[in-house]
Amino acid sequence: MKPVPTLEWQIDRLKLLDQRLLPGEEVYLHCRTIGEVASAIKTLAVRGAPAIGIAAAYGAVIAALETAGSSSFSEDCNRQFDILAATRPTAVNLFHCLDIQRKILFSSPSRTEAIERLLNSAHNLYEEDLEASRTMGRFGADLLPDNCTVLTHCNAGGLATAGLGTALAVIYEAHSRGLLSMVYADETRPLLQGARLTSWELKKAGIPVKVLPDSAAASLLRTGSIDAVITGADRIAMNGDSANKIGTYPLALAASEAGVPFYIVAPVSTFDPGSPDGTSIVIEERGREELAGFGGRQILPAGVEVYNPAFDVTPVKFITSIICEKGVISSPDSIEW
Ligand code: MRU
Repeated sequence: MKPVPTLEWQIDRLKLLDQRLLPGEEVYLHCRTIGEVASAIKTLAVRGAPAIGIAAAYGAVIAALETAGSSSFSEDCNRQFDILAATRPTAVNLFHCLDIQRKILFSSPSRTEAIERLLNSAHNLYEEDLEASRTMGRFGADLLPDNCTVLTHCNAGGLATAGLGTALAVIYEAHSRGLLSMVYADETRPLLQGARLTSWELKKAGIPVKVLPDSAAASLLRTGSIDAVITGADRIAMNGDSANKIGTYPLALAASEAGVPFYIVAPVSTFDPGSPDGTSIVIEERGREELAGFGGRQILPAGVEVYNPAFDVTPVKFITSIICEKGVISSPDSIEW
């Protein structure tokens, strides 16, 4: 499986595949300033927990390049990191990667050295994510039966990571082992990551995929034709409660009711030692405009307000297993990591 070209460092800039335009257009953004990186993350040009973290790690290099001439380099550069940290609150990978970069910034003996070390660190985070995807793919595929049909939500693929995915890494591996019969991809209202991105990725990889409205998932599960539900996560609390794209929790409830295994696939960088359980996970709320229009047409009457959380938390009791690069586990607090 060739990695999806989600993000790439080029000399002095971060090249990003603009996911807002997929599947219609494959256009690349070239981010040379912190403002451009922050805006790309905030507006979901780059999205998905691991991809956001890696983009921010490269953003830290841009911050250091931007502030290299300052008389108070470390402090000014650190303030630029804060701009990146303020983009999206739920995916913990963002904060994990920025913490790593902050330590490097403050422990480097010179600004030249800081720039070099920050770039090496961003490359490492990118490579580690690719390696974690390969490992999770193998662990996950080992759990699937022959001729299986799986259901996924949002996009937890190459587009959401350094290029090979989390939930979709399992699906790619299952396909390469000849185990996979069909993938059902929830459309994923309101931004349609399943319809626009997951189906685009799977179609490119030659994997059979059908898109369904989110509201059809529960009745599909009741038919008995789904062998497993497989999703990613944005933040996993120590007890295993997992935040993922809005609509994941009802999917887990429906899977539990239908007796279908529900797997979360996420690297250790998605585990949050600061969250003992799901109640401490901050859920991002997004704007009215995401619900107000559809296909270029206004659908909400003027003055009607919305409730638009981007994520929900699935309690661990509805999660069959969490698949990470350390193995198949019940919760982060059950392993050494
Ligand atoms: O709002 P998004 O598109 O960034 O949300 C992404 C998700 O919820 C993914 O399922 C999650 O980040 C896991 S990606 C490997």
